[in-house]
Amino acid sequence: MSPEKLIEQAKEAMLHAYAPYSGYKVGAALLCADGTVYQGCNIENAAYGPTNCAERTAIFKAVYDGHRDFVSIAVCGGKDGAITGTFPPCGVCRQVMREFCQDDFLIYLADGNGYKTATLAELLPHSFQPEVLNGYSTSV
Ligand code: THU
Repeated sequence: MSPEKLIEQAKEAMLHAYAPYSGYKVGAALLCADGTVYQGCNIENAAYGPTNCAERTAIFKAVYDGHRDFVSIAVCGGKDGAITGTFPPCGVCRQVMREFCQDDFLIYLADGNGYKTATLAELLPHSFQPEVLNGYSTSV
């Protein structure tokens, strides 16, 4: 699936956002290795802390359904649903991606017209990864 088509699904996912506190609506579309796409939106909470980001909503939906092999994710968002530029996934979402994805996992950051591409390694270098618990020693 092309990045453009995945971004279209992320834009559609924004429409599902529950963001009454920040007004910042985010959508994500996660591409699985078998071609399945999972959409996610941010889901805010009056206690703020329990808020779930769009990326994690998509990943958790996919994992529940038995998917753990992911290729890429498209993300977009903006105040009141207006996309004015790109924004990178938050640190918590990057760490959740790292649980299931390797360094070459692709993250498409969409703006109104186009998109930028980053790998997970670029956004989360020297990551804490599942292998560490089994004795794997990182380079730092
Ligand atoms: N948000 C996401 O959905 N993904 C991110 O990667 C960063 C932030 C959401 C959380 C909150 O509902 C709103 O954006 C403002 O922080």
